[in-house]
Amino acid sequence: MSADPTFESIINQVKVDVVSPTHDVDNARQLELASRCFATDTVTVPTKEMYEYATKASLGDAVFHDPSTQALETHMAHLTGKEAALLVASGTMSNQLAIRTHLRQPPFSVVCDGRSHINKYESGGAALHTGAHLIPIVPSNRHHLTLKDISPHVVLVGQSAPTRLICLENTVDGLILPQSDIVDISQFAHENNILVHLDGARLWHVAATTNTPMSVLCAPFDSVSLCFSKGLGAPMGTCLVGSKAFIQKAKWFRKAFGGGMRQTGIIAAAVAYALTYNFPQLPRVHALAKCLEQGLRDLGVRILSPAETCILFYDPSPIGIGYQEVQDSAAALPRPITIVGPRLVVHIQMTTEAIDDFLALLRTLKEKMKDGVDGVTYPPGPSGTDAKGGYPTAQF
Ligand SMILES: Cc1ncc(COP(=O)(O)O)c(C=O)c1O
Repeated sequence: MSADPTFESIINQVKVDVVSPTHDVDNARQLELASRCFATDTVTVPTKEMYEYATKASLGDAVFHDPSTQALETHMAHLTGKEAALLVASGTMSNQLAIRTHLRQPPFSVVCDGRSHINKYESGGAALHTGAHLIPIVPSNRHHLTLKDISPHVVLVGQSAPTRLICLENTVDGLILPQSDIVDISQFAHENNILVHLDGARLWHVAATTNTPMSVLCAPFDSVSLCFSKGLGAPMGTCLVGSKAFIQKAKWFRKAFGGGMRQTGIIAAAVAYALTYNFPQLPRVHALAKCLEQGLRDLGVRILSPAETCILFYDPSPIGIGYQEVQDSAAALPRPITIVGPRLVVHIQMTTEAIDDFLALLRTLKEKMKDGVDGVTYPPGPSGTDAKGGYPTAQF
């Protein structure tokens, strides 16, 4: 029979050290990987300066009241011209809260862009949380949804689920929705007793490119979701904005979803830092993306979708190369570059050097194709990365 465990032995079972002894090197390496990752802008990492500022945040319990979180929410409401704002953990949670809060009694349908995050990447959340039927639409101009695309699909009478909500996304795949089309859609929706939500995860880019105040961009919508952890480089966080009554109700659902967070002052401060110091960097990001696009065009690569903001889509087949070859060769470089499929995302921590290196790689692959050289083997990537020396090729 073993002796009763002592508290000392339980302490030993419980304690853990999650900080690697080589954290300085590892984190520098992570920043290096992020600076060469074209797969997504969610890889942007918090900086020492951001964390230093965040340590000064208030320490309240945000389910009740936290001053820094409250200050951020007040600022976001003011910035977007809405009555209230709610800080939540993620863009997905924010969109799902909006859908759940807007819709009351099924049956109902939600009209959205077929390419949208709500339609493709939220684990069927609208059906799961709200019992909503999504009606995804493909834009006929292959760029953005117009009222002409939407109105035939909106269900006002008949036997299908009535449409109670339209969800737009701006930017969608890095493309900007013209504000005049948004206003037309919103007017039509409101005339027909339909609410309009915007997934504005990357709306910051629209404000930066078009010099339009956020309040103007948000005006046609009943609710807007704005992410801080993508192009703006905060570690996490999204704000949902809307009317006072809407946010009050969303707050209950946030709690019911398990999303009531406690000492979020540190997150609010990291977000405030991102808004203050990272948002002004977006024009530089857009200029880099345009440089990348021009470099690809000069090489003879097809541009499937141009760099209106920070995202472009390319097709290397006109120069005789496939996506897998680009992805594998980029991951096998001594300083790996992460590329996944046709989408290229440029972000605040990407360097001009990464873009030059990527273009140089394509040039080399193109030359090799021309010369008929194949079967090239590249050295393995440094340790501490996945098999290809970069980020795992998961969906972002
Ligand atoms: C347009 C858009 N909306 C929402 C989200 C979801 O954000 P999160 O990953 O924070 O849930 C993403 C994620 O990349 C996105 O690109």
